[in-house]
Amino acid sequence: MAYETLLIETADAVTLIRLNRPGALNALNGQLMDELTAALDVAEADPGVRCIVITGSDRAFAAGADIKEMAAKSYAEVYGEDFITRNWERVTRCRKPVIAAVAGYALGGGCELAMMCDFIIAAENAKFGQPEINLAVSPGAGGTQRLTRFVGKSKAMDMVLTARMMDAAEADRCGLVSRVVPLAELIPTALKAAKKIAALSPNAVMLTKEMVGAAYETPLSQGVKLERRLFHSLFAFEDKAEGMAAFIEKRPPSFTGR
Ligand code: CAA
Repeated sequence: MAYETLLIETADAVTLIRLNRPGALNALNGQLMDELTAALDVAEADPGVRCIVITGSDRAFAAGADIKEMAAKSYAEVYGEDFITRNWERVTRCRKPVIAAVAGYALGGGCELAMMCDFIIAAENAKFGQPEINLAVSPGAGGTQRLTRFVGKSKAMDMVLTARMMDAAEADRCGLVSRVVPLAELIPTALKAAKKIAALSPNAVMLTKEMVGAAYETPLSQGVKLERRLFHSLFAFEDKAEGMAAFIEKRPPSFTGR
């Protein structure tokens, strides 16, 4: 498929997807979300891909849903086309890990897309916000729910009700991002993390991701039970024997995914 709003490179088992609508600060329109859905389908289906990185430009990860496209939509249209649900949430169904590498603005749907990823690495110039209230709407791609789980009620309320942006240092302090790096190191750092993940046993990676994901959806006792079952299931893979033997024999492991 030829992409008009994304730049995609795959190397060393990592697919790097760059949102690319520079004239609109990567505002997320229907075409971009359709293309992102398709690109994630391709990466998920390719056994040669083990990890995915989503990024934007130095100036903007994404400045939100495309306001110019949304402005013309009526209630009947957004309900009828199942706006957001139809093509925004593919990333939440990826079994392979997805890292968001965020520089510049991650606002509205941009912040929500970053939060749908497994973790966020931020550049020092990153700015996160849910300013939809300025437009007399609310976050619509999970922001009221995910932001509150990440940063707690007080900060989430402050951000969604006042539209204030959070800088990278604050996002780091409150756990919205996993780490902050200088802008020039954002992509190298994200790719290094992705390549580390890509070299591990893919079954262990995907099942471990599933366990952490369950922490958001289940009570503690159910989550721990799921973890125990999946932990036990990892003993069924050849990679488990290889990983432990390699440690004991003081050599690097060679994982096959079996
Ligand atoms: N939609 C459409 N176009 C956008 C956009 C958006 N979300 N954000 C920026 N742009 C466009 C601007 O219209 C402008 O285009 P033109 O040059 O054709 O006028 C271009 O990108 C550059 O933007 P600015 O000139 O505004 O750049 P700036 O540096 O002065 O300001 C900014 C940057 C603070 C991010 C500002 O652009 C802004 O406030 N953008 C809107 C942010 C926003 O409200 N996001 C939430 C959208 S609603 C949503 O996301 C709903 C949901 O939850 C799903």
